[in-house]
Order: sequence, then C-alpha cells, then structure tokens
Amino acid sequence: MTIQKDYTPNVVADTGVGDMSPEEFRRHGHEVVNWIADYLEGIEAYPITCNMLPGEIRESLPATAPYIGESFDNILHDFNSKIIPGITHWNHPGFFAYFAITGSGPGILGEMLAAALNVNTMVWQSSPAGVELEELTLDWLRDLVGLPMTFQGVINDTASSSSLYALSAARHTCFPEVRDKGLFATPISRIYASREAHSSIDKAVITLGYGVEGLSRIETDSDFRMNTDALRKAIEEDVESDIRPMALVATLGTTSTGSMDPIDELADIAEEYGVWLHVDAAYAGPAAIVPEFREYFSGWERADSIVLNPHKWLFTPIDCSILYCRRPDKLKSAFSVTPEYLVTKEQSDTISPMDYGIPLGRRLRALKLWFVLRYFGSQGIVERIRAHCSLASVFADLVDKTQGWERVAQVGFSTVVFRYSPLGSLHDTGGIIQGNDNIGSDELQDLVNMNIMDRVNESGEVFLSHTRLNDRVALRFSVGNLRSTETHVRRAWELLTSAADELKTS
Ligand SMILES: Cc1ncc(COP(=O)(O)O)c(C=O)c1O
Repeated sequence: MTIQKDYTPNVVADTGVGDMSPEEFRRHGHEVVNWIADYLEGIEAYPITCNMLPGEIRESLPATAPYIGESFDNILHDFNSKIIPGITHWNHPGFFAYFAITGSGPGILGEMLAAALNVNTMVWQSSPAGVELEELTLDWLRDLVGLPMTFQGVINDTASSSSLYALSAARHTCFPEVRDKGLFATPISRIYASREAHSSIDKAVITLGYGVEGLSRIETDSDFRMNTDALRKAIEEDVESDIRPMALVATLGTTSTGSMDPIDELADIAEEYGVWLHVDAAYAGPAAIVPEFREYFSGWERADSIVLNPHKWLFTPIDCSILYCRRPDKLKSAFSVTPEYLVTKEQSDTISPMDYGIPLGRRLRALKLWFVLRYFGSQGIVERIRAHCSLASVFADLVDKTQGWERVAQVGFSTVVFRYSPLGSLHDTGGIIQGNDNIGSDELQDLVNMNIMDRVNESGEVFLSHTRLNDRVALRFSVGNLRSTETHVRRAWELLTSAADELKTS
C-alpha cells in the first residue's frame, strides 16, 4: 500500500478526544473479522427467526446512552448477548422468505473498506475514485445484463428510491414546469402499473403528489403478467377524460411470483402514447446476466429507466440499488441543485452523482459491488444464479409430485409459489377450525396455509413468507442465498409436509 512519504502515526487519540487508538482498532478489528468468519461458517447453529416478543430486545438494553464511554469488549459482549438473539438471519441457508439474498464475503469486505474510507460520493472532488468506480462498475454490469451503452447508471439505497427518482424524471419530461411552479398548474395525470407491481410504486406516486388514485392498477392475465388490452383501455379512458398518461411501470420479476410483464408490447404502448417507461427489475434484473435467460428481458432496452438491485440477487450486502436511465439528462434536470460550496472546476467534465436523486451525501456503495463482480466474475455469477434456479425447480418438482399440494404460478426464476390444497374437506384440520366453523372453504384454506407456514417458521431451520394471489393466500419459496443447498430445500419440504400432516391429526 502507498502512503504519504511524511507519514507519522496518528497521535490524536493521546489527547483524550480522538478516535479509538490504532492498537485497539487492530485488536478489535481482528476480533470482529473472526466473529464474522465464525458467524458465516456456523450460521446454521442460529435459529433463523428470533423467538422474542416485540419490545423485549429494547427492554434488555439501557434506556439512555452512556455518559462515560464503554469498553469495546463490553459493547461486543452486548452485541452477542442482546442483539444477536433478536436477529432474523438473512444470511442463513434456510432463508427462503421474501426474496432471499446473500451478503457475500467479498461484498462484506468491500462494505468494511467503504466504512473505513468514509468518503462522501457527492461530486468528483469529494470522492474522485468513488465517482469513477461507480461509473465503471455500473457500465460493467450494464454490459453484463445486455443493456446498450445509452444507459447511464447511478447507485441508490433501495429500489423504492430508484423508482421514485425514475418517476420524477418521467414527470419532469411530461411537465418541466413542475420544477418551478409545482404541481398546481398541471393537468391530472396518471401512472400505470399492474396489480402485481410492488408497493414502492404506490409510495412513489403518493410522494410525487398524485395520490393513491394517481396510480392505475391494471389487471393481469392468468400468469400474473400485465394485461395489455386492459392497459390500453385504461389509457384510452383517461385520455377521453382529459387525464394525462404520464408513465408506465413494467415489472420484470414481480414480488409475488417473479412473473414478467410483456415488456416489448408495453414498450410499444409507451411509445404510442408518449409515456415514460420504467422497468422494475429489482429482483430478476441480475438474471439477465445468464445467457439462456436474456430472451425474457428482450425489449427492456427500450425502457427509459430500469431499476435492479444487487442487494437482492447479486450477492451484495444491503443496500445497493441501481437506477439505469436512458435519458439521464431528464433525471438530472429534475433533481440538480448545486449550492455554491459544491461548485467545482471539474463539474462540467465529470458526473456529479448528487445530481441524480435526492441524497447529497452518498456512501461508496460501488466498492462492494465491484468486489463482488471481480471476485465471482461473470461466469461465477451465472453459475450461482443458475444453481439457485435449479434449486427452485427441485422444490417445484416436490410440490408438483405431492398430492394435496399445488403450484399456483409458473416458477419465476428462483421463486416458487404454492399452497396446500388437499382434495376433500379441510374441515378435518383439527384445532385450526375452532372458532372458525362458519368460514368458507377458501378462507379455511388460507388459514391452513398460514398455519403451516407459521409452524415451519417456528422450527428456526427454514423461513418462508406468503403472498396473496387472486385474493387467496399462497406460500412463497425463494432461493437466493449462496449457502443454500439441495439438503436445505428438501428439509424445507419435509417441514412443510410434516406441518400439514400434523394439522390433520391435531
Ligand atoms: C419487484 C420489487 N420492486 C421493488 C422492491 C423494493 O425494493 P427495496 O427494498 O430495494 O426498496 C421489491 C422488494 O422486494 C420488489 O420485490
């Protein structure tokens, strides 16, 4: 490592008002790294979910901050005894809930170094390597997922922020006057997304001032893909009522099932009506790196903006979301405000990430993503994503082959949606119906499935989540952890079927 020639050890700590001393840092740093290595190695010893009651964790900790600083040994002790028992272990190989993720080794190390550098990637001057690394890493990833060079990327914390910024750019494109005059002078406008689009789109529309009614939720087909006829009808009706169509959000990899909206057709419609096309590929986007999956994304290159989350399925510790924009100038003109103290001589020749969203201060998130891409390489990433999809098909096969269980959607990459629906009466499911004698069979089936899921989750060995499809409960099984193996998948299935059997006999 190169350091300044006149380097002298930092002695500020000696004054009593400095930082932790380098010796102490080194000692505890080694301890923490060892803790992390042991944690990742022995993670299966932990129950995935915490079995404490809400409020218990807080009650176990002092109500006020310490007046006198404490030893790091004490802090680590409490981390182990008070915090760890309250953790849901997302890095556990039996974690199949929501969209399962991995904070991988290289990603964790990148995160640690980013914290040490503590740079603020606002403008080139404030973090030259930060700005250039972010540009480069996002260009690499753009090429890997097969998007054209016209897309410029920026890293945000979450897909929720990325979609909010994308829709702000959409609004700016439609009504540039909003920036100066606010919403008041503009016509009523609408944004369209399918019924299966993520709630972050509702939040974005509400935040932009269009209200809940500003989002038109379009029905889906039997595969949970946006119905394009219904979309056209909704747009036409709005146009006739003088409501201005502003943006269309397509989801590639919906949260419930991983379904893919018909992106090429949606791009045609967006072009026809002159609306901004935003693609939410927060979960499935990284799958476009896999050659045989690329065709499913065909047409997304026609979008104006695309969000994908390396913190979902690209092994990068949370948080890291990328917004790719084909019209970054629109994003910039929606957001850019440069106070005098941030005017720099390089600003006309360099990208200032602060111009492309709300936050001024930005962590060096590109470092962990760069580490991940370099450490695994694109081939390694392809193999890992493929492996997750094959584990999902192992699970789907088990569902398909077992009487009394059904899949309720196509396997969406590494996500399987299914339910317990035995033939005949569910009213023999023992204790569950107590107090629920009058409910219909659909509601009873929902209750049974929730009960099965709760029983499985209480095991601490695996963790699943649920969704609602066509207003009925369905269970979700999503593979995304690098430590998950077929043994974990089969164990999850064993727990599910045993829970269903227990219900029958209880
Ligand atoms: C399709 C989709 N979009 C957006 C989000 C929101 O992601 P984030 O937590 O990064 O805001 C999710 C979360 O699961 C999602 O599944």
